[in-house]
Amino acid sequence: MADTDSTTRTIDPGRLLSRTSRGAHSSAIRDLLVHARRPGVISLAGGLPSPELFPTKALALAARSILAEPSNLQYGLTEGEIELREIVARQHTVMNGRVIGVDHVQIVTGSQQALDLIARITIDPGDPVVVSDPEYLGAIGAFRAAGAQLVPIKNDHEGFDVDEFELRLLAGLRPKLCYLIPEFHNPTGRSTSPKRLERLAILAERYAFMIVEDNPYGALRFEGSAAPTLAAATPNVVQCRTISKTIAPGLRVAWMVGPRWLMDAAKIAKQATDLHTPTLTQHLAAALMRDKSAHEAGLERLAPHYRPRRDALVAAVRDHIPEASFTTPTGGMFLWLTLPRECDTDHLLPIALDRGVAFVPGSAFAVAADLQNSLRLSFSTATPEQLEEGVERVASALSELRS
Ligand SMILES: Cc1ncc(COP(=O)(O)O)c(C=O)c1O
Repeated sequence: MADTDSTTRTIDPGRLLSRTSRGAHSSAIRDLLVHARRPGVISLAGGLPSPELFPTKALALAARSILAEPSNLQYGLTEGEIELREIVARQHTVMNGRVIGVDHVQIVTGSQQALDLIARITIDPGDPVVVSDPEYLGAIGAFRAAGAQLVPIKNDHEGFDVDEFELRLLAGLRPKLCYLIPEFHNPTGRSTSPKRLERLAILAERYAFMIVEDNPYGALRFEGSAAPTLAAATPNVVQCRTISKTIAPGLRVAWMVGPRWLMDAAKIAKQATDLHTPTLTQHLAAALMRDKSAHEAGLERLAPHYRPRRDALVAAVRDHIPEASFTTPTGGMFLWLTLPRECDTDHLLPIALDRGVAFVPGSAFAVAADLQNSLRLSFSTATPEQLEEGVERVASALSELRS
């Protein structure tokens, strides 16, 4: 039919954008952190893995033979390429004492997608979801976008405070999900103690909620041994794992492992999102993980790289900011500092950027807690020398803030 209406109307974004999109704003901190990329700025802000560790040679070699086979570039199954799912199923051999099969494995486009899918398939607007306070921003974003009502629980030197959570349950709280980063939490760097994990598994069964166990940093352990996984203690767990911190984040390959009903629902939701995770990068991940001992040798290179950086950062903070309190992380990428009450880290950031150093203020990760005097420092990409220099710059910005 011919268009006879000659008038043109300008687009009103307020009408076309959904309520959720209209409500989502860029934060002042995020806008400021654009300056962290300026030349000369030492960034202790991002949680990026060190690019020196990316296995570029092995990936190039694998890519050559993968690309020689056209079917490796074809559309794939939504649940993921079978070889990768089999490798994952072998790695996560037991869930609550039972051997798992590929039906329990869903490949996703980064573990961020796992969080988004889990939120979308379980949460109705207003449903309570339990998180730590502070918490990983991407998880807060995914749960909020699905309309969840976040229930913040304290995170102390032993990690997620299960006692506080239990009191809330006793008082009537009935969440569908409890989100947990058990090891080397982002942003606090802390791990939840085995005793607390055991208790949480019992509570998950007593109150019939699912634990979303997101563990991207577990392979970056500098000392001590890993706690048994929650999945060994209860079937009420969906595990999210990624190769972003162990192989390379740009591949966007991760997976979730959980009960069949959840995997089936996730598959349908993922179909509408991206059909499937790129076949090319799934094949690359499989090529690097197929040989167990070669893959483990790759993982063993991580701790010797990051540990000296953690040590350099901790030593520099002790020397230059002795008033800061913190728990020394035994792995991961982050150190969480608490400064004296009067030091507002939102105000500290612009001064620090002027002095050539970036960090993320604690308020960025807050759900409800007042974290104005906290900050997250990342030790993953700076050299030990840059870490020392960066902390000196933070200390001098602090003197200016307090003067
Ligand atoms: C706790 C946590 N979960 C999930 C992610 C997202 O990882 P991916 O690259 O697999 O999407 C990150 C990334 O920094 C993270 O810190």
